[in-house]
Formats: sequence, structure tokens, C-alpha cells
Amino acid sequence: KRHLISAADLTRDDAVLILDTAEEMARVADRPIKKLPTLRGLTVVNLFFEDSTRTRISFEAAAKRLSADVINFSAKGSSVSKGESLKDTALTLEAMGADAVVIRHHASGAPYRLATSGWIDSAVVNAGDGTHEHPTQALLDAFTMRRRLVGRDAGLGKDLNGRRITIVGDVLHSRVARSNVQLLHTLGAQVTVVAPPTLVPIGVESWPCEVSYNLDEVLPKSDAVMMLRVQRERMNAAFFPTEREYSRRYGLNGDRMAKMPEHAIVMHPGPMNRGMEITAEVADSDRCTAVEQVANGVSTRMAVLYLLLGGSEPAVTTTPAAAR
Ligand code: CP
Repeated sequence: KRHLISAADLTRDDAVLILDTAEEMARVADRPIKKLPTLRGLTVVNLFFEDSTRTRISFEAAAKRLSADVINFSAKGSSVSKGESLKDTALTLEAMGADAVVIRHHASGAPYRLATSGWIDSAVVNAGDGTHEHPTQALLDAFTMRRRLVGRDAGLGKDLNGRRITIVGDVLHSRVARSNVQLLHTLGAQVTVVAPPTLVPIGVESWPCEVSYNLDEVLPKSDAVMMLRVQRERMNAAFFPTEREYSRRYGLNGDRMAKMPEHAIVMHPGPMNRGMEITAEVADSDRCTAVEQVANGVSTRMAVLYLLLGGSEPAVTTTPAAAR
């Protein structure tokens, strides 16, 4: 069984294959009938121990568009609240015949544990674990950047070579930042992370990116600027930055956006703290791809499920038969 646990596990060819397959899936989404029979008879379980809007719904839509059966499990309202362990929850899923388990968990490493424990025989997809990784978010972000910065058809088979991507904000708590830095580096982009010194992780020197504390300096040299949510739920209240101070130094407003090159895009994985890391003016502008990223998430997750459960081996160029 193959799994998707970390963006760092993907080679350039793996990543480009997923992005190209996602383009094929997006073409299916443009048809009047959006469904493919590819995963008929297979079961995908969404196992969510942490809240989610976008990721859970888009994995559900992706699995259904590939004709898989979907079981949605939320820890809230389940026997997890009675103290049931990850192992016993996993054994229950195995008994139900899951072919893929999409897991979001507050503990970094939980998807890896599930994939390597021997408790289940399913493919495991990491849908966000603690502050560790969120690889399908990075893939849908790369898909969005490739479309916008390289071109929808012109981009097929290509990576993000030389594109300058800036990731801004609460890097310390961000699994989105960790997965994006890894994947964007693999795809040849030049990545800069910008954050207040208190929200830069220890060990960032070993990441394949530059670090800056000056947003205004970096903006004119960016092809895409990805704003991160300030994750108050993972912070000690004593360390909360004030909204005013944070947005003054690290928030993206209309004046700052005007410093970006004309072709450059603003990204946000959601959910957004409007008024904190991004103003409503920027979030609702034509340059902000937040809603497009959500739509692209369905095609990207279709590609991931297809390649894990029904597709050919990575690094073999393929067009999903049903999408031809
Ligand atoms: N971007 C993202 O992971 O959003 P959700 O937490 O709503 O899934």
C-alpha cells in the first residue's frame, strides 16, 4: 500500500504527476456529469480528530466524484470522547473494510503511526497532523500557483522553477508552511518565509528557504504571497500578538498589496482571520486565490486518491483512462 504522509516524500516527478493528473480531474469537473467510475466499490474513510471545513468536504467531494463510498468520522460525538485509542478506532475502521483512510489529527505523527502500525491495511493520507504537515494543501497550492504563474495547459509536465514564493505569518504553528516549503523547493521555486521572530520555528535554518523579518522588502520580489492564519488555539494566551501590532507589521492590506508585481497573486489556505493577517479588501480582491484554492483542492485530492487507489505507479506519465 502507498501512503501520502509528508510532502518531503514526493520526488519532483511524483509531484508533477499529481499536478498533471489533477488537471485531468479538473477537466472532468468542467463537464455536465462530474463523476468518474474509477473507484467504484472502494471505501474512503475521512477520520477527523480535529475541526475542518475545506479539507474534509473536499476529500468527500473528491472521493464521491470518483464513485467511492465515503464514511465520515468525526472524533466529536464518537467513542473517542469516551477515551477510545487511535489503535482501537483504527481496528474498527479496518473491520469496516476501509481502502483509504484520510486522517486529520492534533498530534504530529499520527498519520505516520497509522500507516506503519500494521493496525490497518488501507492507504493513509495525511489531512493535517498537529504542526507537522498538510501535504494535500501544499499540492493544491502548487496546482494553483502553476496554473496562475505558468499556465493551465502550458504548465503540464512543468514545475515552478525559479518562481519566487513568499510565505508570511505564524510559521511556528503552520503545517501548511512546512509542507509548502518542502514541496515548493522540490518543484524548483525560491521560497522566503516572513514572520515575527517569536513565530519562527527553531531549526528553520535547515529548511530549504530564506528567512526574512521584513515583509515590505520581500513583497516587490514575490510572484505569490501566501498569508498564514495566526493559530491562537495553538498559542499560550500570554503570547498572543495584538491584532493591531501584528497587522501593522505582518498583515497584508491594500497598500502593501500594491507593492507586489502586477502579475503576483495573494494566497490563503483558510480559514482566514480577516483584519489580522489579511484585510477584507485584499481577501475579496481579484488577486486573492483563496476560493480558487478550495475548488482546486477537489481536483488535487481526486488525483491523490486516484493515484493511491486506482492509478499507475508514480513517475509513469499517465492519463486516467476514464478522464480521456
Ligand atoms: N486549509 C484547511 O486545511 O482548512 P480546514 O481546516 O477548514 O480544512
